[in-house]
Amino acid sequence: MKNLKLIQTKSELKALIKELKNVSTGLVPTMGALHNGHKSLIENSVKENDFTVVSVFVNPTQFGPSEDYDKYPRTLEKDLEIAKEAGADVVFAPNPKEMYEEIYFEEKETTLVCPPYKYVNRLCGKSRPGHFDGVCTVVSKLFNLVKPNRAYFGKKDAQQLFIIKRMVKELDFDIEIKECDIVREENGLAISSRNSYLSENDKKQAPLIYLSLKKVKELFQNGVNEAETLIDTAITYLKDFEVEYVEIVSKNDFCPPVSKNVQKGDIMLIAVRTKESRTRLIDNIEL
Ligand code: PAF
Repeated sequence: MKNLKLIQTKSELKALIKELKNVSTGLVPTMGALHNGHKSLIENSVKENDFTVVSVFVNPTQFGPSEDYDKYPRTLEKDLEIAKEAGADVVFAPNPKEMYEEIYFEEKETTLVCPPYKYVNRLCGKSRPGHFDGVCTVVSKLFNLVKPNRAYFGKKDAQQLFIIKRMVKELDFDIEIKECDIVREENGLAISSRNSYLSENDKKQAPLIYLSLKKVKELFQNGVNEAETLIDTAITYLKDFEVEYVEIVSKNDFCPPVSKNVQKGDIMLIAVRTKESRTRLIDNIEL
């Protein structure tokens, strides 16, 4: 197994990156609490690059004031073990004061990278105003620090992935964005760091989310292509949750299909809160 280096300052990271000559670098941005989903992102990066940096940073700028920033799981020791097992070279785990300038902590302000309103005022962005500005800001900072050839993101956060791909194109980052498949528990639940919040009862209900997506895909494959019918079908499986949204969007612009008829390749997305622990879960499937 390779030696894994833990770096906690930007200056040390920059110095190390500067030393790398003719080396392809992969970046796996994470907020820690690493699980098998992250592990597969790291393994993909290790396969495709000479050097892999995993960032572990619970990014304050992407959490709203009533969100779970303080409660978000922080498990650095375990994260280091998982990153090492997966073959990473560096874990970059700065604290917020290292990552952001003083003005952010004094006045809650920093220069932000803000994606177009059209992409952020819907789906997850609707209930999380400012979330994608925070995501794009921290991801841009990480891109500038690590200067990776490739960066790895999971398809579970489909809107995030779409927005990051647009940002890379529109801001001319010379970085290839690699989309990695959703990793699931045996019961189908998409693996997420927030699954650790689930109560025993929530755990029993949570697999219904993926089941509803699979049923919709089955229906679509059998010729049903009306968006409303497919959305209503999913909702019938989600009675035990508080549904935030169930939507179908085109992969190209992340907007609902204009004709209301779903095309192959469109994506159905779901966000719900569980009844007991009120954990917010998201999932999606390509139709
Ligand atoms: O997907 C996440 O874990 C975060 O949004 C990311 C991309 C690491 C930015 O903080």
